[in-house]
Amino acid sequence: MQIPVLTLTLLSSLFTLPVSASTENKASLGTRHLKSSAVEFFTYDGFGQYQRDNLWYTQVARVGDRIEISGQGGWDPKTGALKQDLEEIDQAFENVELTLRIAGGKGWSQVFKVITYVQSPYFANETYMIHVVENMKKWLPDVQPLWTAVGVTDLGAGLVADMKIEVEVVAYIGDKH
Ligand SMILES: *[C@@H]1O[C@H](CO)[C@@H](O)[C@H](O)[C@H]1NC(C)=O
Repeated sequence: MQIPVLTLTLLSSLFTLPVSASTENKASLGTRHLKSSAVEFFTYDGFGQYQRDNLWYTQVARVGDRIEISGQGGWDPKTGALKQDLEEIDQAFENVELTLRIAGGKGWSQVFKVITYVQSPYFANETYMIHVVENMKKWLPDVQPLWTAVGVTDLGAGLVADMKIEVEVVAYIGDKH
C-alpha cells in the first residue's frame, strides 16, 4: 500500500525529472537551509520520508520556540494507507501528535492553534464535525485552542486519493515561566 495512494501519472512525471535539474535543486535547497539555520526540518520514517523524497516537502519545522506542521491526513504514517470513515479523523489527530514529537515537542499539549480542512460534503455533516470536536477535546482537555475550520472541495492536490480531512497546528514549546 505504499505506492498506490499516489497517482501513477504524478509518479512518472516526478521520476522523469532530469538528473541535473534535481541535483541543482538539492544544492540550492542546501544553501538556503544553511542561511536560515534557525529553521530545522523533520519528518517521520515511512510515508513521511516517502513524501519528502517524492513530493519535495517535509512534515514539520521548528522555529525557535514554535513548531509548525504540514497538514496531517488520516494516513498510516508507515504505509500511507488512508483510514476509513471517522477513523480517518482519529488518525489525522494521532499523526499531529507524532509529527510534533518528531520535532522535539511534547505533542498536542503544546498546541495553541488549529486549522482543519474538511472536504465539503463532510464539512456540512454534523456527525463528522462533532467527531472532529471530540478529538479536540480528547487531545486538548485543558485548553480551548484557536481554531479555524475550513471547508474545501479537494485535499492533497489529488495526490492521496479521497482524503476528507487535514489537520494543521502551531505549538509553542517554550517554558511557561
Ligand atoms: C455523515 O458522516 C457520517 C460519518 O462519516 C456518515 O456515516 C454519514 O453517512 C454522513 N451523512 C451524510 C448525510 O452524508
